Amino acid sequence: MKRIGILTSGGDAPGMNAAVRAVVRKAIYDGLEVYGINYGFAGLVAGDIRRLDIADVGDKIQRGGTFLYSARYPDFEFEEGQLKGIEQLKKFGIEGLVVIGGDGSYHGAMRLTEHGYPTVGIPGTIDNDIPGTDFTIGFDTAINTVLESLDRIRDTATSHVRTFVIEVMGRNAGDIALWSGVAGGADEIIIPEHNFDIAEVARKIQEGRDRGKKHCLIVLAEGVMGGNEFAEKLSEYGNFHVRVSILGHVIRGGAPSARDRVLASKFGSYAVELLEQNRGGLCIGVVGGKVVAAEIIDTLENHKHQPDLSLYELNQEISY
Ligand code: F6P
Repeated sequence: MKRIGILTSGGDAPGMNAAVRAVVRKAIYDGLEVYGINYGFAGLVAGDIRRLDIADVGDKIQRGGTFLYSARYPDFEFEEGQLKGIEQLKKFGIEGLVVIGGDGSYHGAMRLTEHGYPTVGIPGTIDNDIPGTDFTIGFDTAINTVLESLDRIRDTATSHVRTFVIEVMGRNAGDIALWSGVAGGADEIIIPEHNFDIAEVARKIQEGRDRGKKHCLIVLAEGVMGGNEFAEKLSEYGNFHVRVSILGHVIRGGAPSARDRVLASKFGSYAVELLEQNRGGLCIGVVGGKVVAAEIIDTLENHKHQPDLSLYELNQEISY
């Protein structure tokens, strides 16, 4: 393989740029050419493709977002778009593709694989909801961003003796809420993967109040329900002086953490190695600290992401 392509797709994640940089630098180091595709699969179908050189990825490792831009492009579910995408890749002489993104992007990569086009997926999403890896690029930065907010909110919650419901992103996964909640000493973490009893939550808040506790932080994963809805339900059980803070897209921006940059660099370099060996149809991950590759079709069809629920139990034991 002499020429490879790269795109970022779906919701951007801090560290995507570091991954693109690693792909470009490793490929050029090994004598390959790299082409960048703008706007994910939408740009692929449209042929928005350009050659990337060493300097194109300079001054990028520390930047959030993705300089290749991104897009949500549900139309890639249809065969017409997939074939058009492959036609564009062939037109540019691109023999293999690296796709960086989350669930939707992985499905795009899977479709290309089904058409026999050599594709390697790199997990890049703040949600950490991709099977085949313990961690995705962007997750570490995201939880640290949430953590900073939790620490700040705790200050004002304490001053006013208030309860805060802090809604965090994560799509259908509770990982962001779980990890940031444990790190931030949240009184309650509400995630889709674990049931909860709102009456019990209210009882614990009251218990804390009775002990003289000044603040209460409830970290709520968006996949459960919206922050305002949760606050309304909670207020039916008493006046806990509830305020709601929806962190939203703030969580997606910012400079990637050291951990995300290192992970992205490892993943990017490995993706190039796989394509050099003509090994497509794979997705990269880190499992038990080791960088691994697995069949993308099998990973998506037969595996499901599970958050580390031991963190949930831990939080119940040490935060109340
Ligand atoms: O997948 C990343 C993510 O930020 C989710 O946490 C969130 O639900 C979604 O994307 C928001 O998507 P959009 O930016 O398209 O509104």
